[in-house]
Amino acid sequence: MMDSHLLADHYQRALRADEVLAQIDAHYPAGPTLHQLAPLDQLHIGGVAASARLLKRLNPDTHGKVLDIGAGLGGLMRQGAALGFQMTGLDITHGFSALNRALSSRVKQPDALPLAWVTGDASALPFVDSSFDAVLFQHSLLKMPNAARVISESRRVLRPGGQLVMHEVVSGPNVAHLRYPVPWAASSAHSHLLSLVELTRLLENDDFQLEHIDDWSEMALAWRQRQRQKEQMPRQAVLSPQWVFGERFLTMGKNLVDNLAQGAIKVVEIQASC
Ligand SMILES: C[S@@+](CC[C@H](N)C(=O)[O-])C[C@H]1O[C@@H](n2cnc3c(N)ncnc32)[C@H](O)[C@@H]1O
Repeated sequence: MMDSHLLADHYQRALRADEVLAQIDAHYPAGPTLHQLAPLDQLHIGGVAASARLLKRLNPDTHGKVLDIGAGLGGLMRQGAALGFQMTGLDITHGFSALNRALSSRVKQPDALPLAWVTGDASALPFVDSSFDAVLFQHSLLKMPNAARVISESRRVLRPGGQLVMHEVVSGPNVAHLRYPVPWAASSAHSHLLSLVELTRLLENDDFQLEHIDDWSEMALAWRQRQRQKEQMPRQAVLSPQWVFGERFLTMGKNLVDNLAQGAIKVVEIQASC
């Protein structure tokens, strides 16, 4: 098991949950839409569009019961639920699970979304074998020091014929030049990036069959550059990653652009079945 206190501190240190909810209530009294929440709850490169692409890889009729591992504030979960998936979000940072739930109760939706939240560790999943049709990772494996164990656990909770879909950051050819802080790590001691080769090998070791690998790095760089321009505007947006990461996000956001541009990191989508 990991030191969940250290990890929760990384994410909860600057999190202003009560102020976030007050800000949402003040600006969106009828409830925010998924797009309005996105600058806050889609804590990955690519925002809502990346989540939509990821979810397109699954069919809610055949793979409707989905576990989002490292769900964060739940942007992907709510998007999936709106498409008809039954979404369970697991996160080790309890403050995130609690705010994820509070955000879900505020969202403007005609029907209650089929969502469940669990605070727990991806390396010891609190679910019985074969309990999900699909598992998703979106910028969460990069924070996990024991990827092999996490992938074995994912395999265990997937039913035969289940699907694993990832939208992850991996190390690039110039990883030695990686600049910190980045959103998942203040320094190299807290970063657990694998290369694409190492990641696919771990999946194959657990008898996953690779079905699809796509390099999203160029798209990720263009998206991050656009976000960075918005972040530098003098007028503050209603919601932004700074509500989660504080002022240090300005440096993190700049470093993400530089790291993508220099080939220190890559962004990939992977689909595998079991
Ligand atoms: C960068 S955030 C991404 C959140 C979300 N997937 C998204 O894209 O918006 C990484 C998340 O992984 C969670 N996490 C890290 N290690 C974990 C573990 N061992 N088990 C479960 N969640 C973990 C963190 O608490 C955090 O919420």
